[in-house]
Amino acid sequence: MERTLSIIKPDGVARGIIGEIIKRLEDNKIKIIAMKMLRMTKAQAEGFYAVHIERPFFESLTDFMTSGPVVAMVLEGENVIEKYRELMGATDYKEAAEGTIRKDFATDIEKNVVHGSDSPETAAFEIGYFFNSFEITD
Ligand code: CMP
Repeated sequence: MERTLSIIKPDGVARGIIGEIIKRLEDNKIKIIAMKMLRMTKAQAEGFYAVHIERPFFESLTDFMTSGPVVAMVLEGENVIEKYRELMGATDYKEAAEGTIRKDFATDIEKNVVHGSDSPETAAFEIGYFFNSFEITD
């Protein structure tokens, strides 16, 4: 069993597609074991994306991620990291496969609607960043 962190980013929340994204998770038998809506501070977004601190898009990305509320979820299942990444599609929506969340909804490489952890190590860090053990229902 694996766990991963999913975030519906401010663009996804603002456009009213929280339900659509959750429906895709449920249709694909991905189990949600924790969920909350919150608005990150700049410092929280910088901490979350600390691995990207040297990247030219860091400032813009952390501004975007604090521009409105997000929905954070913990997903659980066999191979769920890879399975959710397939559902999301490529970071750059122009390269994302047909039928993926980013292909269908993203408008920009940065405003790409959703985030998902990219490895078990990253998932452990990211889940702990957003949720404590009392908030995870499994
Ligand atoms: P995410 O999967 O959350 O991981 C890092 C984020 O940085 C990514 O989604 C995009 O929102 C953003 N990002 C990645 N590459 C670029 C880029 N080349 N330009 C702007 N933003 C980017």
